[in-house]
Order: sequence, then C-alpha cells, then structure tokens
Amino acid sequence: MQRVIAKAGKDKKVRNFYPGLFADELEEAPSETGIVKVYTQDKHFLGIGYYDPKSRVAVRVYRFDDGPLDKKFFLQRFGRAREKRAKLDPFHRLLHAEADGLPGLVVDRFGGVLVVQVRNRAMEALRETWLPALIEAAQPVGIYERSDMDSRRQEGLPEKVGAIYGKVPQVLEVQEDGLVFSIPLDLAQKTGYYLDQRENRRLLEQMAQPGQRVLDVYSYVGGFALRAARKGAYAMAVDKDLDALGVLDRTASRLGLRVDIRQGDAVEVLERLAWSKTPPFQQVLLDPPALVKKPDELPRVKRLLVDLLRPALRLLAPEGWLWLSSCAYYLGVDELLEVTRRAAADEGRRLRVHAIRYNPSDHPWSLHVPESLYLKTAIFQDDPL
Ligand SMILES: C[S@@+](CC[C@H](N)C(=O)[O-])C[C@H]1O[C@@H](n2cnc3c(N)ncnc32)[C@H](O)[C@@H]1O
Repeated sequence: MQRVIAKAGKDKKVRNFYPGLFADELEEAPSETGIVKVYTQDKHFLGIGYYDPKSRVAVRVYRFDDGPLDKKFFLQRFGRAREKRAKLDPFHRLLHAEADGLPGLVVDRFGGVLVVQVRNRAMEALRETWLPALIEAAQPVGIYERSDMDSRRQEGLPEKVGAIYGKVPQVLEVQEDGLVFSIPLDLAQKTGYYLDQRENRRLLEQMAQPGQRVLDVYSYVGGFALRAARKGAYAMAVDKDLDALGVLDRTASRLGLRVDIRQGDAVEVLERLAWSKTPPFQQVLLDPPALVKKPDELPRVKRLLVDLLRPALRLLAPEGWLWLSSCAYYLGVDELLEVTRRAAADEGRRLRVHAIRYNPSDHPWSLHVPESLYLKTAIFQDDPL
C-alpha cells in the first residue's frame, strides 16, 4: 500500500481523530491516487485514508487503526450508525459523514427508501465497496442518489441524481409525528426533507397555543406552520419555492388544516407584511438556507440577516418568541446573537435569549470535527421592562 507522511505538527490533527489533511500538510505524497497508510515523520502509524490530489482535502482518513477499506469495514460503520439510531422512528439521518466515521457520505432514511449524497472524490472512488455494504446493512427497498451539492463541484465531480438501487417511488412519503408529506423527488430540495429541524418543530408544537399567530419564514413544506395549525394557531408560511409550497398546500388540505401561504423573497414579504399593519405574531421562525459558504461572505450575509430581522421584529408581538436558525458552519451562534442585537437596537426592542439549540443526535456533532456542528438555533423572547 502507498503511504503519505504528515508534516511535523500536522499529524496531531489525525491523532485527534480529525479525518483530513490538506496537500500542504503532507511531507511526502505518493505518485498515484488511491488508498494510503498515513504516518508521522518519525514513521508512527496514524491511519488509513484515501489520497487524491484533485480533492480539496488531499487525504481523507477513514480509519485510525490498521486494516482494509473493504466491505466488512463499511458494514461495521453502517452497523454502528444504525445502532446509534435504533430508538428513532424510521425517518432520520442514518449516516452523517465524518461525524459517523465516513467523510463525504450522507444517508437519510425515509422509511424503506434511502437518499444518499456522495460529497467527495474518496467516497466516489470507493462506491463499489460501500454501496453493497449499505444495502446489506440497511436492507432498503430503494436508494436514490442526490449528489448535486456545491461541495461536489468543488471536488471536480459531476452531478449524479437518480435511482441507484431497487424500487424508488417518484414521490417520497415523509412521516413526522402524524404529519405525512408527499414530496416529488425530482422537485425536492437537498435529500427531500429537512430532518434536522424535527426536534425544533416538536418544540414549537409544544410552545404554540391555540389562537396564537405563528409566522414560519423559509418554510419549505411547512413543517413548523402545520404543527402550529394543528395546535389551533393561525399559521402563515413564507418561501420562494413554489413546488415546496404546493406540497404544503396539499398536506394542509389533506389534514383539514389551514395555513396562509405567501410566495416570494422572505425579506420583501416581511417588509410588506410589516408595512401593511398585519396583526403581530406570537411566534416568528426564521430558518434561512445555508447563506455562507466561505468566511469572506460573512459581512454581506450579516447585513442581509439584519435586513430580515428588522421587519421580523416589527411583526413580533410583545413577549413573542423569535427563532433564528443557521445551517451554515461559518455563521455561528456569536454571529446569530450579533445580528439580532443589531436589528433589535434599530427597532428599539429588548430581547432575552431563551435557548440555543444544536444539531439533533441523528446529525451528530463530533468534538473532533468542528465543521460537524452546522445547525444552530437561537430562541429569543421579547422582554420589555
Ligand atoms: C433550511 S430550508 C427551511 C426548512 C424548513 N424550515 C423546514 O423545517 O423544513 C430553507 C428554505 O428557504 C427557502 N428560501 C431560500 N431563499 C429564499 C428567499 N430569498 N426567500 C424565501 N425563501 C427562500 C428555500 O426554498 C428553503 O425552503
């Protein structure tokens, strides 16, 4: 097997279970792409990885003990991921990339159907080994691939979208605590459904009261809005994606619930609502897409969030609850607090921080991989003196 040698000092990353080394962190690299043993400068073994100089991260480390990257290895990883989710219902993230020991692979489970994303060159190259292991470990009815994310383009890989195993329905049936969404796979965002907000949606349902007004901004198929409506609240949903709003509308009619739907750009819709003297909302939820992909985009995105928060605060009832999420790694809790403080100052509102919430357990946050903490939600309450 070929080998790579980490530069002095950089070996610490791998010793501490970080699964990647950049090209400039290597003292010695092999001539060919493929599976490698990773060593320190003084020939101490660190792990087994995949070397590809065309990848953004030249070495992806898959195991920290010595052994092959064969079907048995992948079966162990998938088996461990399943064990950790044994208590969850069959709609969850089954494998969360490096946080589950497989950098570059995401698997979401929707009942019998799995949706996979292959995000790096190493997992693409090892596809013939991990795919049979995934089938054996999870026994799905079908597997759909949705590899069309930005990280794949950065790796120089083409998009891959479509069924790759078994029977895949055209419409994904997603169940969540009694809500059933029928989401056409070819129109869906990401892997089809935002499983990562499930626990926040549950919390909203506990907090919402009959007769309250709830504003679900960046609603996608309206997971928050429908739960609020189910509690007897008036719910309004805002999103720019007409297909997602169509799913929301059909789901609401099927359940006999009413959700007021506004299609358009969130900032524009909120500005219009605020100017039209719409009655205030007791709950305002802001769950934007991953707005920041690189640190240098932060100043622009923070300004956008302040522009979003200002009308949102004008629409917030006294003592109402404001929820602000970020699913972008670079937009952390400090930034969420900062933009909310700036907008609150502009609007003359006083808020208290009620809670900060993170990725749920089926999207694990590994201490050793800071990037695996990507979802943060700050819940504020208007707190007049
Ligand atoms: C993270 S998802 C929201 C997930 C949703 N809250 C849930 O619980 O399923 C972000 C949503 O923002 C929408 N979106 C993106 N840019 C937008 C914009 N400028 N205005 C309104 N919606 C937008 C996307 O269509 C997507 O549905």
